[in-house]
Amino acid sequence: MEIIAINRLLRKKPIEQLLAETQGTDCLKKTLGALDLTMLGIGAIVGTGIFVLTGVAAARYAGPGLVLSFIISGIACAFAALVYAEFSSSIPVAGSAYTYSYVSLGEFMAWVIGWDLMLEYLLAASTVAIGWSGYFQMLLNGFGIYLPPWASGAFGSAPGALFNLPAVAIALLITLLLSLGVKEAARFNNIIVFVKLAVIVLFIIVASRYVKPANWTPFLPFGFKGVMGGAAIVFFAYIGFDAVSTAAEEVINPKRDMPIGIIASLVVCTILYIIVSLILTGVVPYQLLDVAAPVAFALHYINQDWAAGIISVGAMGGITTVLLVMLYGQTRVFFAMSRDGLLPKVFSHVHPKYKTPFLSTWITGIIVAIIAGITPINTVAELVNIGTLSAFVFVSIGVIVLRKTQPDLPRSFRVPWVPLVPILAALFCIILMVQLPLITWIRFGVWLVIGLFIYSFYGINHSVLGKSLKKS
Ligand code: ALA
Repeated sequence: MEIIAINRLLRKKPIEQLLAETQGTDCLKKTLGALDLTMLGIGAIVGTGIFVLTGVAAARYAGPGLVLSFIISGIACAFAALVYAEFSSSIPVAGSAYTYSYVSLGEFMAWVIGWDLMLEYLLAASTVAIGWSGYFQMLLNGFGIYLPPWASGAFGSAPGALFNLPAVAIALLITLLLSLGVKEAARFNNIIVFVKLAVIVLFIIVASRYVKPANWTPFLPFGFKGVMGGAAIVFFAYIGFDAVSTAAEEVINPKRDMPIGIIASLVVCTILYIIVSLILTGVVPYQLLDVAAPVAFALHYINQDWAAGIISVGAMGGITTVLLVMLYGQTRVFFAMSRDGLLPKVFSHVHPKYKTPFLSTWITGIIVAIIAGITPINTVAELVNIGTLSAFVFVSIGVIVLRKTQPDLPRSFRVPWVPLVPILAALFCIILMVQLPLITWIRFGVWLVIGLFIYSFYGINHSVLGKSLKKS
């Protein structure tokens, strides 16, 4: 009896079956190329992390050593990116880490990872919508327009606040865009990514002339521990390169383009982050950076108010695309989990005209809007990090397992030095997870327990793979 139960948990999906599923009528349209993917990656990566969280990370954790935090987090992501590149080029199917673990680690681990990914995409989308609302209201205030207190933030976040109306509005607007078509959304994304890169370059050009090397001493005011704490926070700034892999099923030539998209977007962002964090801490004494909009603040600090205004608008646009890709990623993970029977069918239904998972997109968007409307920003960001880091750990283990179990699978991109690189990826991610506070671990544990209940009452019995194994 027990052996049968364990077999059910370990049942793995055959890769041939996975690939065949992407060819039916309920399939997604293939329209994306390498450049679209790189832009999608940058669209997902550069956002709240660099525009908002750098301030807290510098002032409370790393000091001028913030640049080291970015480098350490960047190394962890670089290892993980190689792993994602191998998986997404050899198994180009929607669902990302969830799908990879279904073929390598079995159904149970796949469910756990899909459940973790919800923390990543769903909550990151909500976090980012709340961040957007902050910038939006700051901009309105600049024109002398103030929202009524009840509409300005989540209950308890400010006197008289009931819910965050702008956060709800932006989440629903992006949902509308996504539900109408991926190519349209990708086009919108490309334009905004360009604007966001331009404002970062503007910051670098304007602010670099005001760097005072004296601000870099002491370089590590909180020691190396502070640098590591900062790394666990700024990890948020890198989240998103993995979202590129959720688009795999809609890519024209995934074997070539997926690795390019994932790695190129991460490289561009890492370089920008290193430069921006050096300049930021070189211009402003780190103690002063604990503000909601540190990048704009730095420009005010050096009396370049014109540039601060431009950067604020650019940051708002930039954060919008992060929201777009996070929402997109979530609907694709839902899509894959539902196609496998682990979630209800409604999540994998494709709209006959728009060729998008229309209903699922709206369900997701409405959940994101509700969370964004009623939750304060700080409680969710760390949960996003722990959920994402745990998924990276499992995917890294998965790549080693798949090399052993399916050595002949065609892989157009191969992680070098397996198992060393995937082991390093897992190790770096675990080290970052350990830096996160206990309360985050507790919330994470509660989330996993809820997931286990849902799996044991729904997924295990509705699993399409389970049913087909029973028949045969
Ligand atoms: N990396 C994304 C951001 O910083 C999630 O907003």
